[in-house]
Amino acid sequence: KSLVVLISGRGSNLRAILDAGLPARIAAVISNNPGAAGFAFARERNIVTRVVDHRGHARREDFDGALQATIDEYAPDLVVLAGFMRVLTPAFVTHYQGRLINIHPSLLPLFPGLDTHRRALAAGVRIHGCTVHFVTPTVDHGPIIAQAAVPVREDDTPEVLAARVLEQEHRLYPQVIRWFLEGRIHLTPEGRVEVHGVD
Ligand code: GRF
Repeated sequence: KSLVVLISGRGSNLRAILDAGLPARIAAVISNNPGAAGFAFARERNIVTRVVDHRGHARREDFDGALQATIDEYAPDLVVLAGFMRVLTPAFVTHYQGRLINIHPSLLPLFPGLDTHRRALAAGVRIHGCTVHFVTPTVDHGPIIAQAAVPVREDDTPEVLAARVLEQEHRLYPQVIRWFLEGRIHLTPEGRVEVHGVD
């Protein structure tokens, strides 16, 4: 089995995935950002890195087409979005239906979009967390695969809360990818998630 991981920046989830000893080859790490710091984690491990710079493409469709062509050179079983900050076109998302996943730093459907930790604190929620989901054309709205809960503390700031959520992301994302590689997770044609044999 093989994975392609897409990043835009820091790459801490990429690092957690690389350190997890997954039963898969990381065929390539691809970024829209030539300066993505997370590339360092791939290079350390001699994993192929590729840049598809969105700034070189006038239309979103053109960027997504170039990205898709690059990903498909590796024919991955799973495409993993790990802090990939570009909105993807329906054509792209449909092409990878059932083998494209994302991690989002909130308990979806609460707080889709950016700045989730500040918004969670402002809303006064007592439980926050992160979500791994299949990607569908509406951003942060795909079928949920797994979530991890993080209790909110009285004295939390967005930064402190983000750090605790990130710890859970680093645990949850490799776990879900492992389940997917083991054939335990499927997206049905009706858009439901089926999970077998995990606790
Ligand atoms: C994470 O919080 C992830 O949930 C969100 O973007 C952030 C990426 O962080 N989608 P990193 O690049 O993996 O460190």
